[in-house]
Amino acid sequence: MILNNYSSDTKKSIQTSHCDQDSIRVSVLSEALPYIQKFSGRRIVIKYGGAAMKNEKLKEAVFRDIALLSTVGAHPIIIHGGGPEINQWLSKLKINSQFRDGLRVTDSATMDIVEMVLVGRVNKQIVNGINKLGASSVGLCGIDGRLIEARPLGDGSHGLVGEVARVNPEVIEPLIDKGYIPVISSVASSEVGTNYNINADTVAGEIAAAIGAEKLILLTDTPGILEKENDSNTLIQQIRLSEARKLIENEIVKGGMMPKTKCCIRALAQGVSAAHIIDGRISHALLLELFTDKGIGTMIIGRG
Ligand code: ARG
Repeated sequence: MILNNYSSDTKKSIQTSHCDQDSIRVSVLSEALPYIQKFSGRRIVIKYGGAAMKNEKLKEAVFRDIALLSTVGAHPIIIHGGGPEINQWLSKLKINSQFRDGLRVTDSATMDIVEMVLVGRVNKQIVNGINKLGASSVGLCGIDGRLIEARPLGDGSHGLVGEVARVNPEVIEPLIDKGYIPVISSVASSEVGTNYNINADTVAGEIAAAIGAEKLILLTDTPGILEKENDSNTLIQQIRLSEARKLIENEIVKGGMMPKTKCCIRALAQGVSAAHIIDGRISHALLLELFTDKGIGTMIIGRG
């Protein structure tokens, strides 16, 4: 930068602020070292969804973070839902689904679109987005290698909405070990070959448990678990598994955060070391959570 046009005081302050900026950049990069070391060779299951799936800039940032994680030796595994595309295609093709208690009843015409969009388009867009950045990802859904066995959810009144009956991780183990990033869409088949759409958070939690992941990370559209609903100043940064259970009992965690927290608790109870609920609306949320001391969301720590 040419400083000649500035007064000597301004010159000084520009130079100092440059120094400050550099020292901030250095400390940020340096803060990452223990985490890069810790996560090398470890499995990190990331549920990708929400705003981070809708906005092009955020998408690109997520793909970059995933590519970076893989490049520094961690093993990211991505689980995704459908994002806005399923609804777009349902209305494009004029398929009117029924709703029960505010939830879509997935009939077979709807399920056809869910499969096409999720497994065909959304999955391949993610795979392509990551691969373009020089990492190598492979797209699958729960049906491949019987990765996820499904059964109907509850009494089956929501049609082809399923839950996880069993995870058979054998098909992704060699991929992970060879440095590929599995990208998994949350469609799975039952014993008798009926296909179901399963909540992607649940799939992520069950896969994390089945492959002995170090971490489960849920990218959401909230800052994390809040002590007071809607007040982001009351973000709970770190809690233990037992405390998370209490938050549910005491109804501090409610609404949409309840199933997410329960899903983290299930994964932690099955041996995952930490589960994170973070804000996917923030660009590079994954890097900020994983490679800084403070993180940006809620980290729930397991027993280990
Ligand atoms: N980067 C560290 C990790 O991923 C610490 C993250 C802390 N995050 C938090 N929400 N308190 O293990």
